[in-house]
Amino acid sequence: MELVQEQYLLSNKKSWDDTAPRFFGRTALPAYGPYLPTENELHLFGDITNKRVLEMGCGSGHSLLYMASQDAAELWGIDLSDTQIHTARGLLAEHGKKLHLFQGAMEKNPGVPSDYFDVVYSIYALGWTVDLRSTLHNVYSYLKPGGTFIFSWEHPLHSRVSQKDDQLVISRSYHDEGLQQCEPWNSPAIVNQMKLGTYVNELIQVGFRIERVVEDVVLGEDNQSGDPAVWYTYQKAALIPPAFIIKCTKL
Ligand SMILES: C[S@@+](CC[C@H](N)C(=O)[O-])C[C@H]1O[C@@H](n2cnc3c(N)ncnc32)[C@H](O)[C@@H]1O
Repeated sequence: MELVQEQYLLSNKKSWDDTAPRFFGRTALPAYGPYLPTENELHLFGDITNKRVLEMGCGSGHSLLYMASQDAAELWGIDLSDTQIHTARGLLAEHGKKLHLFQGAMEKNPGVPSDYFDVVYSIYALGWTVDLRSTLHNVYSYLKPGGTFIFSWEHPLHSRVSQKDDQLVISRSYHDEGLQQCEPWNSPAIVNQMKLGTYVNELIQVGFRIERVVEDVVLGEDNQSGDPAVWYTYQKAALIPPAFIIKCTKL
């Protein structure tokens, strides 16, 4: 990995260690992300009973807790932040499942076995990778042949369009990919801006078969905030998807 990517990992780790408590349990299964249908509607994971699951960017462990409630056999997670891993350990300690949590970057293998998992997933964390190709190679190697990879992330259109009063304007080019400051964060926080086509092509390149792409928006009455200071507004979600999900299979 290049020096600049290592430096971004260090600054992202610091930002996540500092801000983690604001995010505890905020984006966790059965929710996939803002205005997306939930797993209760989508059933992308199918039956998890006795499955070995691994979460990339497991955060405070709330999605792994959901996996425990679905009777997964083993819970594994990787997260960059010590604060998140510490919280996840506390949250999951009581569940009597085989638990393996690693503090580390998803771009590197911290000691995860190959050809071992039925399911690898990532809920609103994959766009933090500073090296998508390495991360996807890792995911591919961790899965058994036929295993499933599911991830959700912010839709690449969302940060390109801004809300000015009651109008939406294109404020950045959709074509402008690469490592960029995460706009709503005040501290240094670098995310990887990629087009939807880039995710799809990288997955295919690594060897996955794409099963489903979800860009659906659920506009409930309870989430009608019109405040443009809110990062995900109802008005914007009514016109462009704030988030997406991809499900694929290791061939
Ligand atoms: C929105 S949170 C995920 C929440 C999680 N799905 C849950 O259920 O609690 C995003 C997580 O990605 C982690 N992260 C950011 N960059 C990372 C990287 N390069 N490798 C591993 N984890 C990373 C952050 O520390 C943060 O915990």
